[in-house]
Amino acid sequence: MMKFDAAHAHLQEDINSYQPEVSRLHKMIVDKTGAGNDYMGWVDWPVNYDKDEFQRMLATAERVKDKAEVLLVCGIGGSYLGARAGIEMIQGLYPDLKTEVIFVGNTFSSTYMRQVLSYIENKSVVLNVISKSGTTTETALAFRLLREMMEKKYGKEECRERIIATTDKARGTLKQLADQEGYESYVIPDDIGGRYSVITPVGLLPMAIMGIDIKAIMQGLSDARTDLSTDDLKANPAYAYAVSRRILQKQNRDVEMFVTYEPQLRSLSEWWKQLLGESEGKEGKGILPDSVVFSTDLHSLGQFIQQGKNSMLYETLLQVETPTLDEKVPNDPANLDGMNYLSGKSLDWVNKMACQGTLEAHEITGSVPNLIISIPDMKEHTFGYLCYFFFLATAMTCYMLDINPFNQPGVEIYKKNMFRLLGKPQK
Ligand code: PA5
Repeated sequence: MMKFDAAHAHLQEDINSYQPEVSRLHKMIVDKTGAGNDYMGWVDWPVNYDKDEFQRMLATAERVKDKAEVLLVCGIGGSYLGARAGIEMIQGLYPDLKTEVIFVGNTFSSTYMRQVLSYIENKSVVLNVISKSGTTTETALAFRLLREMMEKKYGKEECRERIIATTDKARGTLKQLADQEGYESYVIPDDIGGRYSVITPVGLLPMAIMGIDIKAIMQGLSDARTDLSTDDLKANPAYAYAVSRRILQKQNRDVEMFVTYEPQLRSLSEWWKQLLGESEGKEGKGILPDSVVFSTDLHSLGQFIQQGKNSMLYETLLQVETPTLDEKVPNDPANLDGMNYLSGKSLDWVNKMACQGTLEAHEITGSVPNLIISIPDMKEHTFGYLCYFFFLATAMTCYMLDINPFNQPGVEIYKKNMFRLLGKPQK
């Protein structure tokens, strides 16, 4: 299903020498006894998820999909990155669909907001507002503007058919507002934090509305939970990945560059950056997660990776065995562009050769270690599987550093300053 390969990473320690530590920490994960254990609902979610709510999501998706020329997904951080990662990975960037998705509520940019409002003015919209706390300012402000626009356009009654709230089951202003206005609402479980929430209605409902098979995502998650339930480092690629990261950091490799060769995986990289960065980056510890999409970025950051001050870097290459679509290079008798040597070859084969050549250039010539994760395709099952793989690897990696993987205390500091400057009333 999914393969992990550390053969190109030049690890100076044996991964298997970490077995006793991994076994001890695995028990902490399974028994939910580690730091932040209130937020470990994701561990058994693939089998424990609310089946009635899941059916309701399918019904909602069916009900609203014809009303939505545009699906607006209003949320920030964990409340949007997963849905975006899944939708783009599975459907590609220009799918032939009746509904297009636009992500809002993740910025204060006035130009962005104004342009979205103008763009959707004459289109039929459905809005899914997502916020666990209900108080996130970026999301709340965008929702206020969109709600005003929608109420003017459709009236309050019709808005009940078009606005769906995903939030905490009891607390928070969004829950109150949803109940008062009569919006359908979905629950973000108490024990699943933002960046682990893509597998709940936070990620699944927007994906279902976009026509993605969320049952197959749940199957991928559940298969990963089964496959990755062992503490044996030789059989658990998620733990082998976590240990490899630890070894590389001990070799002073403090920056991890997540490498893909598919533009439709760019948002998956953003999601991955949040998952690792927000989970691990605290107490002066952690590996800085960064990302590139090759071969595009070989023409920009590729130069730095190859020959810059790259001694703090390593790459994690996410390889896709079979692309979603492929295209053959046509023959051109005139051959003015000199490309006939590739006539009849598939574009994906060219992409794979670029990948192979780059791996060698970076690893051998540039001395940049490479970890390789291979996935079979970019379909639903693989997306679910990959989410669980990274959740587990993140938990293991953080526990190896004695860090709570599930909080983000540092995020509050900018908010405190911003609220002071905005004159937010103290409670
Ligand atoms: O990982 C996290 O917890 C954060 O990224 C949150 O998801 C983000 O801040 C949005 O929070 P909320 O869903 O409460 O609006």
